[in-house]
Amino acid sequence: MDMNPLRPVILAAADSPRLKRAITGTKVTAGIVRRFVAGETRAELRPVIGDLLASRRLISVDFLGENTTDRGQADAMVAEYLSLIKDLSAAPRPDLPGIGAAPVEVSVKLSALGQALPVDGPAIAADHLRAVCAKADEAGVWVTVDAEDHTTTDATLSTVRELRTEFPWLGAVLQAYLHRTEADCAALSGHGSRIRLCKGAYREPREVAFQRASEVTDSYLRCLEILMRGEGYPMVATHDPVLILAAEQLTAETGRDIGNFEHQMLYGIRDAEQLRLAGGGVATRVYVPYGSQWYGYLTRRLAERPANLAFFLRALVSK
Ligand code: FDA
Repeated sequence: MDMNPLRPVILAAADSPRLKRAITGTKVTAGIVRRFVAGETRAELRPVIGDLLASRRLISVDFLGENTTDRGQADAMVAEYLSLIKDLSAAPRPDLPGIGAAPVEVSVKLSALGQALPVDGPAIAADHLRAVCAKADEAGVWVTVDAEDHTTTDATLSTVRELRTEFPWLGAVLQAYLHRTEADCAALSGHGSRIRLCKGAYREPREVAFQRASEVTDSYLRCLEILMRGEGYPMVATHDPVLILAAEQLTAETGRDIGNFEHQMLYGIRDAEQLRLAGGGVATRVYVPYGSQWYGYLTRRLAERPANLAFFLRALVSK
């Protein structure tokens, strides 16, 4: 079966300006946005991350935005990340015995930092990422670069490789649905390499990506095994019980130190499971998005569950 038969349909429909106007302009939206997005401003974000850290979970904060084609917007994105990192450095950190991970991380999308600008995009994004990493380094905060659609994978991994010479703790994300990812995992499983493995959230053609749920799960399992048997620091980003169990089994099988990998989940999804894992002493990080540009992020979350189609239909009829 396809990952979710409605997923490509929802993701395609989400590109329509009409649907975007309908979704962003209705009352039914506010509640569902609040489920997945911590707030629109840093002031709204603060209590959310305070509660997560107090519950012994680690955090990765994402300032929402993507596909910037305006230099001013890319510059503004960097300025917000610098202020965010300053705020995060002041947040009380949990005492987590045996866990060496930085409790606080930021996640960034290179397309928000200027990668898609018509002139010198990748170089501008790399300079912007360098500024974010330098500030994060001072503050004891980690940075991980999100994975976007497959047309950006080479440019993004090449920027991460370049910057890891200055910031060896810089992390990258790999998407198990891409055919190439097993090879990328093997190439990036060396000492010190922080790799977040996820299934992948974009609408991708069958030439580059597995389409069936079972193929994506199998690919994830192969990639996970490579990372868990490697020398890096795997970040197991999934809510899927089969994959979480596989990570637990591989930890035991490979003798990997419990402080040398982490589970990651999204804010608003499987909260009880996040608490169970954190309570068992394993590093468990929650990806927390905030900001006013939540539309792309929200539609990817809604597309992951067929039950959410009803939300789109309600938004359209209540317009
Ligand atoms: P799957 O979708 O099969 O879900 C397993 C179970 O989790 C479901 O049965 C349900 O119980 C629950 N669940 C999952 N999604 C839900 C939802 N939206 N609403 C309610 N319940 C839900 N992708 C990407 O392309 N680039 C990236 O950089 C990242 N970054 C990232 C960071 C982190 C920390 C996570 C956890 C995920 C990402 N992703 C991502 C998203 C990822 O690719 C994927 O789309 C989602 O995690 C959903 O896949 P699962 O592995 O959870 O499995």
